[in-house]
Amino acid sequence: MPFDEVVVAEKNIPKAGVMGWPVGHSLSPRLHSFWLQAYGIDGVYEALAVAPEELPSALRSLEEKGFCGVNLTLPHKIAALGLMDALDPAARRIGAVNLVSIDEKGELRGSNTDAFGFEQNLLSSGFQPNGGAAFVLGAGGASRAVLIALQNMGFTEIRIANRTRERAEILARDLTTAACKISVIDWENAPQALNEIALLVNATSLGMEGQEALDFPIHDLPQDAAVTDIVYAPLETDLLRRAKARGHKAVDGLGMLLHQARPSFKAFFGRDPEVTDDLRRAVLKGAKEC
Ligand code: ATR
Repeated sequence: MPFDEVVVAEKNIPKAGVMGWPVGHSLSPRLHSFWLQAYGIDGVYEALAVAPEELPSALRSLEEKGFCGVNLTLPHKIAALGLMDALDPAARRIGAVNLVSIDEKGELRGSNTDAFGFEQNLLSSGFQPNGGAAFVLGAGGASRAVLIALQNMGFTEIRIANRTRERAEILARDLTTAACKISVIDWENAPQALNEIALLVNATSLGMEGQEALDFPIHDLPQDAAVTDIVYAPLETDLLRRAKARGHKAVDGLGMLLHQARPSFKAFFGRDPEVTDDLRRAVLKGAKEC
């Protein structure tokens, strides 16, 4: 629904939504509505069409229109950084906001839950971080959150390769810490630089439906390494299929989407929701209908 047409909510019914432009493809309404129904919570979560030039006024009128907060999707996640009264450390470090909540003073607090979603997806699959090395393909927006999650998980070395090497260099420069060195590998040499890694991550858009395949040989991957992909359509990417065939643990990207929504649901509706198989099925059905 266009944000201008939103009417003031009835009192006492928590109301939230996702702002995007376009916003029709967002799976967030399906996800949050599933949880609202599953927990019998009387709340509302809507898709809100907000053009880029309307974002500042839309965010400022959230409280007046009865919202307790919103999620942000493309193209608003970076623009929102400068529109918040306060940013949490994750939003500042990732450089993007995907959750806006309104505090008791009516101020806008920007958070980012993508690194949390990536980490929780891996941990809930049974993956056990061992403090070693990880390899990340891609240096776009998603990759920043992935690198921060890997650092939070205790990896001490991250290798990153990107078609456009400079983007990887910027990430390595911005995010290297005393506890975790990030080194850049040439895209062409990446398949030969997988020695001793515990985890391979595809954070590019390659392999997604409608995109080129990820042509990335994994025969040098250590046998005990796990593989994960941020792409979730298709659920089993070619990379994950090849990894499974070689006996690697393979973790699909849908869980990242589902887990990153948990802190938002808690902020809006007061309950930390569970990621279940029923939820996965409901969201996948939505993804196919989009
Ligand atoms: P997101 O925010 O989802 O990460 P993005 O910022 O557009 O999206 O990044 C897409 C990633 O996929 C980038 O790492 C991109 O590489 P470039 O930085 O060189 O553009 C990568 N990617 C997209 N198409 C690619 C292709 N054909 N070959 C190699 N990498 C590709």
